[in-house]
Amino acid sequence: MQPTRCAHPDLILNGKLRWPPASSGFARGFESRLGRAVLYGSQLDAMNGGGPIAKFESCFRREIGGSHVLAVSSGAAGLHVALMAAGVEPGHEVIVPGYGWGQVLVFLDALGAAPVFVDVLPDTLCIDPAAVRDAITPHTKAILAVHQFGCPADMRALASTAEEHGITLIEDCAAALGAEIEGVQVGLWGNIGVFSFNARKHLPLGEGGMIVFRDHRAWETALGACQHGDRCALQGPSDLMHGSPDLFWPYRINPMAAALGCEMLPKTRHWGQARRAAHEALLGQLASRFPELGLPRDPPYGRHAWGSLVLHGPPGSSEDGEWISELRRHGLGMRPGPVLAALPDRPEVLSYWPASTHCPNAARAARTTAFLPRSVALGIAPAEGGPTP
Ligand SMILES: Cc1ncc(COP(=O)(O)O)c(C=O)c1O
Repeated sequence: MQPTRCAHPDLILNGKLRWPPASSGFARGFESRLGRAVLYGSQLDAMNGGGPIAKFESCFRREIGGSHVLAVSSGAAGLHVALMAAGVEPGHEVIVPGYGWGQVLVFLDALGAAPVFVDVLPDTLCIDPAAVRDAITPHTKAILAVHQFGCPADMRALASTAEEHGITLIEDCAAALGAEIEGVQVGLWGNIGVFSFNARKHLPLGEGGMIVFRDHRAWETALGACQHGDRCALQGPSDLMHGSPDLFWPYRINPMAAALGCEMLPKTRHWGQARRAAHEALLGQLASRFPELGLPRDPPYGRHAWGSLVLHGPPGSSEDGEWISELRRHGLGMRPGPVLAALPDRPEVLSYWPASTHCPNAARAARTTAFLPRSVALGIAPAEGGPTP
């Protein structure tokens, strides 16, 4: 298969693939502003949450939305803080999808809570709202909806269940900046939304994250849980620090990442459109060349953000990956995964939580999906052997 050339020339910088598609003029302007900030080093003091951090948070609120926002050091840190802000404590259960990135399990363990694994829907690989409804018990404190690979979960159904039972709904939007339901960015549907800005995401800041809260009290709890006492003293209520300004999780964002975020965030909508066009072009080609593949698409209720491009093997295909080898022979550099085992099937998870429920759709997806490296998915790099940023 020939590599596709993307219709958006600004995705290419100096003849090489770049994500984000920033121009060299943009990069030079930022370099000089950052240089000045280093010379006047106090601008990079992050302890009180001022300077670039305050600016980045207000820029996020303006560009993306969210009543209350808090910049943090990573998406994973954001998930930990979100669980604390939801009031998750020992003895609580949190409903999580049985398919995906397992890091949240570490935080549940740290908080003394247990995951309740719920299956995903085969088309979206997002948590099944009907199965969530069945999994609620008197111990359920929160539901974690992951917008898997940028595909929005069915938030209308999940929000209605969460509201009915008075349970906090947390959205993992790490790979879903730009994904929408009914024109509303995901992360703004639940009680708390968490974004990642690691180097592979839609807003790549090296490392970083943002948490959005519907409720001011949850924001205050999060502030006290993970920000320096100087910031809590300035912005929190007087009882926030309980007289202990140094007892917090060290999750503040690096101010240089925040400064970069201020510059790049206003461009993400345009960049997201270019990314979408590149994916649609590639998916069109795949549909005509390999009609038997299960290709991802927008769900009926929303718009995908195309975080990663994950394909399903042909129906009834053997699970030995032969179909992946076949596509590789056509020059499509795919790899099995990216999730290689359902969470409740992983031995280390089972040894911790032996009562974990098997999730058949999650298990099958882990055996029968493959993903395209991002350079190929964006359609502008050689299919094999090229850079995979
Ligand atoms: C769905 C999901 N959640 C959470 C994370 C963690 O984000 P971070 O790398 O910023 O800690 C990732 C990272 O790729 C992710 O894809």
